[in-house]
Amino acid sequence: MKCLRGLLNLMMSDKDIKEFHNLDKLKPISLRGKSTYHIMYAHDFTWGYLDNVDNEKLSKLCIKNYENRKSEDRRSGRAEDIVIPLNKQIEEIAAQMALAYEQHFRQPISLMEGEGNHWSQVHYKKEQSQFHHHLGNAYGQREKGADVVGVYYVKVPKDSGVLIMKYKKHEFDSSRWYFPPEENKFILFNAGVEHGVSPNENDEPRVIISMNFERKDDKNI
Ligand SMILES: [Fe+2]
Repeated sequence: MKCLRGLLNLMMSDKDIKEFHNLDKLKPISLRGKSTYHIMYAHDFTWGYLDNVDNEKLSKLCIKNYENRKSEDRRSGRAEDIVIPLNKQIEEIAAQMALAYEQHFRQPISLMEGEGNHWSQVHYKKEQSQFHHHLGNAYGQREKGADVVGVYYVKVPKDSGVLIMKYKKHEFDSSRWYFPPEENKFILFNAGVEHGVSPNENDEPRVIISMNFERKDDKNI
């Protein structure tokens, strides 16, 4: 075969050789559109602060609904969650947090639809949150799990508890990341990261709003 190609090359002009090898007809390979960056799993989290939130008004709304729990069963993690109506302010908080997430992870997210995907937690003295995650069936009540958890801090008295996230540096590791809350601060992290809140040691209540987000571009990959 090598011999035959050599013989052909001798008998052909340069133009013929180029044509024979198709060299001029080949277009340079190029990238079609934009490539996509997709996170399969990450311990990474995003946090920041929001301005112009009426924390007083939100705090009152959450405290007013203190008895209105997602579950009456105190053994369930859902009993820690307070049902609050979705108002314009909460929608805007979610939208700004989603924007911050997209800036870092380059993936659009949005607040999941449905009543169960935003709630409040109000912790009075010695109250805390047990460890949990936000994946599907986390409490036997939510079939569709979240992709991303968002927390916004409405009212944070001194020593009123820290967010604790469990993460594994390797298979046998059980590290903890302690995230200090502050008023106007928010955090977004993977829904599979187990997290809890240490007890409030202050006489004043600590108030947060928690949200479930989903990635918009997870379909049709
Ligand atoms: Fe949570």
